[in-house]
Amino acid sequence: MDTKHAAATGAARETAVYTHGHHESVLRSHRWRTAENSAAYLLGELRPGAAVLDVGCGPGTITADLAERVAPGGRVTGVDAAEDVLAQARAHAQQRGLGGAVSFAVADVHALDFPYDSFDVVHAHQVLQHVGDPVRALREMRRVCRPGGVVAARDADYAAMTWYPATPGLDTWLDLYRRVARANGGEPDAGRHLRAWARQAGFTDVTSSATAWCFAAPEETAWWSSLWADRTQSSSYADTAVRGGHATPADLAAAAEAWHTWGTAPDAWFAVLNAEILCRA
Ligand SMILES: C[S@@+](CC[C@H](N)C(=O)[O-])C[C@H]1O[C@@H](n2cnc3c(N)ncnc32)[C@H](O)[C@@H]1O
Repeated sequence: MDTKHAAATGAARETAVYTHGHHESVLRSHRWRTAENSAAYLLGELRPGAAVLDVGCGPGTITADLAERVAPGGRVTGVDAAEDVLAQARAHAQQRGLGGAVSFAVADVHALDFPYDSFDVVHAHQVLQHVGDPVRALREMRRVCRPGGVVAARDADYAAMTWYPATPGLDTWLDLYRRVARANGGEPDAGRHLRAWARQAGFTDVTSSATAWCFAAPEETAWWSSLWADRTQSSSYADTAVRGGHATPADLAAAAEAWHTWGTAPDAWFAVLNAEILCRA
């Protein structure tokens, strides 16, 4: 039996908790994402008529962009472990007049409910860092991708985030975030692992790259700092940080304050390094 078919045996179920949840402060950043600013490495692989699976699609702005890129005749399926966010993704696709080309369903990337070889492109943006078994997830993405198709993933690497000016409270925030994400079963420094995970999942043709998001204009630093300040105090992350004994509400308030301090600093600048893999199935 080849490794692709061997991969499907055995039960698989998610064991990690999605660190961010879908609070408004989280979706504020997810809705900003486009195929251009978040999936540029994949665009050359998209053809009219292609069948695309977008795993962990969240509120679906990238999903909708992918649908426009495979028109006419293409179809995109967005799946996510959380039903509540799919309602928003459906509404977004409808608003953009893409209702016929896009469909959504609840699914766990470790056990996708699709036959072998169902899609030309299988994509996951900022998802593998949150799952309990990213290698299993990539095997499952490979299973549903047709031979010659592409499995694509992009993830940030939290330890590689960098900013100016030095803001000690943000060092504390980053350390806390990485501890909470790991306690939830994820890998916050996923970016540096992607290539290795892909090879462990059985891919032999893997192209690796990296691109950054950079927030430097005053309106960008105001947006980025306020959404992180709000996330730090009001999202599922805040709940798990406190319930897990990693931080007190006062610690989270201090981290939020550090974000505001950084965001209003003259010459504030922040970069998020994102790793990317394009794996030929
Ligand atoms: C950081 S968000 C990214 C959303 C979207 N891809 C984007 O970039 O805007 C991660 C998404 O993955 C989903 N997710 C987490 N674990 C998952 C799993 N095991 N299977 C499918 N989706 C999962 C979460 O519910 C969340 O919507």
